Amino acid sequence: MSIQTEQAASQSAELFARAQRVLPGGVSRNTVLRKPHPAYAARGEGCRITDLDGTTRIDFSNNMASLIHGHAYPPIVRAVTEQLERGTAYMMATESEVAFAEHLCSRSPGFEKIRFVNSGTEAIMVGIKAARAFTGRPRIAKIEGAYHGGYDYAEVSQTPKPENWGSAERPNTVPLVHGTPDSSLDNVVILPFNDVERALALLDEHREEIAGVVLDPMPHRVGLNPVEPGFMRAIRDWTTANGSLLVLDEVITFRSEYGGLQSHYGIQADLTAMGKMIGGGFPVGAVAGRADVMDVMDPNGGRYLFPHSGTFSANPISMVAGHVAMLDFDETAVARINALSERARTGITEAARATGARACVTGAGSILRVHMKETPPRNFREAYLSPEEGARLSALLDHLFEAGFIMINTCTAMMSTPMTEVEIDALVAAFGDGFEKIARMP
Ligand SMILES: Cc1ncc(COP(=O)(O)O)c(C=O)c1O
Repeated sequence: MSIQTEQAASQSAELFARAQRVLPGGVSRNTVLRKPHPAYAARGEGCRITDLDGTTRIDFSNNMASLIHGHAYPPIVRAVTEQLERGTAYMMATESEVAFAEHLCSRSPGFEKIRFVNSGTEAIMVGIKAARAFTGRPRIAKIEGAYHGGYDYAEVSQTPKPENWGSAERPNTVPLVHGTPDSSLDNVVILPFNDVERALALLDEHREEIAGVVLDPMPHRVGLNPVEPGFMRAIRDWTTANGSLLVLDEVITFRSEYGGLQSHYGIQADLTAMGKMIGGGFPVGAVAGRADVMDVMDPNGGRYLFPHSGTFSANPISMVAGHVAMLDFDETAVARINALSERARTGITEAARATGARACVTGAGSILRVHMKETPPRNFREAYLSPEEGARLSALLDHLFEAGFIMINTCTAMMSTPMTEVEIDALVAAFGDGFEKIARMP
């Protein structure tokens, strides 16, 4: 059968042809695109997804880190089914929201109060607005290359390029979207990751104006390295000393420890944004933190400065699903999938060495990222792919997909609790074969 006939016979190919007529690019999120067409999911169970053409793959993307228990986890299916029969959203508060808030607040001493929203983007937006309202200041600082979702200020310098990123001492504020107003750019200060001296010098220049520093403790796009303890300490101390807030983005990294990655550093953020896995597979976001800061959203409090609402915020489906997911993601479960990831990081590193592939592994907790570089990149600029590295990465990702593994397109893997050594060892073996292939590339 020729490739063209194979494609015509593919249900995914047919659907993509229809999709391109009604959806820009054929999709609702660019991350699902693949060449020549995306694979369309038919069903998922545990850590496996079967596509419309009947191919089953092991899912190391877990819907971009949001499915901590994999697909169709029976306790979540039961809880949500029960809730569905009682209604999906009311303009009334629910016990499910209170119970889930109590549980999340019990996981970290810094979580005195919490508000639920519908996505990580919204959680970061609410965190930034709460920081501005509390301090009365306009600006935020963020790390060059860090991804915090789609809020104008949070997406500044998300994907800068060598031709526009400016000097390392003073990174430029680069818009992501054409037409972003200068006022958004002017209200953001871009900091180099893990560079205490330069970061503090830039913060000092705007000492009086910074409402908060937004920091992901292991930013995926910056290279997936945990923040160095000295950098975390320096930012925590600077914000405290200067009347500014530390807003941690734990939308992904909350999975790394029972109380989030911040507990590993022994620091408490003023505000923490969460999302993804805390929804048990349903849309969610949350901001948790100091009661006095969170109370800027309390209409009956003495400092009501930030009116906040949302039609689907704390909807009972996301609340019951998230609560079950988090109760079952206890210390034992966290430690178990962290150990599985360590096994994968060690195995893939060894495979890269044995095959002579110019590749290395970063990450911690239950996440890993493979770079087409001999030494681990330490910041966004070092993680930036040359065209040659990009070609090798894309060949490796194609190989993994063909071999039955779904990865995030930066070659990142997120573990889930249904996984065992079997899936990890299969992934390591597939990397070994993939490294052999790309080692032969010119
Ligand atoms: C660190 C981080 N923050 C925020 C977001 C935005 O979350 P959402 O896609 O739910 O809006 C993401 C999404 O990938 C993320 O990785």
